[in-house]
Amino acid sequence: MSHGPSPVKLPGRRVLLVISGGIAAYKSLDLIRRFRERGAAVRVIMTAAAQQFVTPLAAAALSHERVYTDLWSLTDESEMGHLRLAQEADLVVVAPATADLLAKMAAGLADDLASTALLATDRPILVAPAMNHRMWAHPATRANIDILEARGVRRIGPNAGELAEGESGWGRMAEPLEIVEAAAAILGAGGPLAARRALVTSGPTQEPIDPVRYISNRSSGKQGHAIAAALARLGAETTLVSGPVQEPDPPGVRVVRVTTAAEMLAACEAALPADVAVCAAAVADWRAAEIAGEKIKKSAGGPPILRMTENPDILATLSRHAQRPRLVVGFAAETEKVIEHAQEKRLKKGCDWILANDVSPGTGTFGGSSNTVHLVTAEGVEDWPPLAKTEVAERLARRIAERLAP
Ligand code: C5P
Repeated sequence: MSHGPSPVKLPGRRVLLVISGGIAAYKSLDLIRRFRERGAAVRVIMTAAAQQFVTPLAAAALSHERVYTDLWSLTDESEMGHLRLAQEADLVVVAPATADLLAKMAAGLADDLASTALLATDRPILVAPAMNHRMWAHPATRANIDILEARGVRRIGPNAGELAEGESGWGRMAEPLEIVEAAAAILGAGGPLAARRALVTSGPTQEPIDPVRYISNRSSGKQGHAIAAALARLGAETTLVSGPVQEPDPPGVRVVRVTTAAEMLAACEAALPADVAVCAAAVADWRAAEIAGEKIKKSAGGPPILRMTENPDILATLSRHAQRPRLVVGFAAETEKVIEHAQEKRLKKGCDWILANDVSPGTGTFGGSSNTVHLVTAEGVEDWPPLAKTEVAERLARRIAERLAP
């Protein structure tokens, strides 16, 4: 673990810090400061017991956010329900994690705000246990730790040393800097794309015809969302501009939701500068030239004739932008002459790489979870084997990391 002169940065990362009731809670105030120093935003939940050791006011002053303490408080629920609190984080850190809270987590109990948020989140969780060494060694605690780790909960510490009651042994909470480093590792901040900014488009766009109707396509957003997640895992500060999809927000990614192609382009331009842009969205090629102000009536002289106009090409616009990302990657969904058309598209759009895929009927690419792609670059064509979309994303993210390596 390096505590050297160039600390890892966590720009824009959102940490939900759960402080439970142990004497080590005083160190959690320093932990808030350390996270913020590195650019992370910290929201704090304190258990009732934690408030016996440190005050919500101190945590609020350091985090520059209000502190959440009460599941039943109407204010908490109206301003920020526990579900939102749990989901609007890239990482949940429990420090100190008492034997009691670890037991609740292992059992799935949810009887206060902290335990409820922990049960309600699907974000990565890092616990920093702190307790008396006999409590740490107790078979119940050992079993709870095993259960939590088997579920993917990550742990830092405890360390050996002097404990609060004058005893010594294993049970001291890890130091704030160690916790920050562990958090950074989980968030991929030490990865090959740390300090790089990535922009990804995903999903379809919807182009309104009238107040209730629109033109769209069947893009699921699976591939684009997986790419954003993979880039973030390698440490990139990632913005995902997504059309309407069912996919959950990938962890560690800033998601900007849009509806139309025009909104998607504006959101992409607002996310510049970026080191890499990956355009995976299935942008509607056309939109209605005029959007009817009222719902078009069935009786209004037979079926309407829609006049369409061309949408902006986001990939082409980014490829020729004054703030062009160093690497611009597009997709080409083709049903014939896949490679040939992809080569032409690469030149026409001005992007660096095209991932070409065959979407002929029967391939199951659209909306499915696997994909067979060819990476088309100025140097040539690479055929990738059939892969899950998540693996296509992993491979692409690694290739991007190699390409952007200093
Ligand atoms: O021209 P075509 O739609 O086949 O190109 C596909 C690639 O271009 C994809 O990467 C897609 O995200 C991007 N694209 C775009 N804006 C458009 C149309 C396509 O960014 N209006």
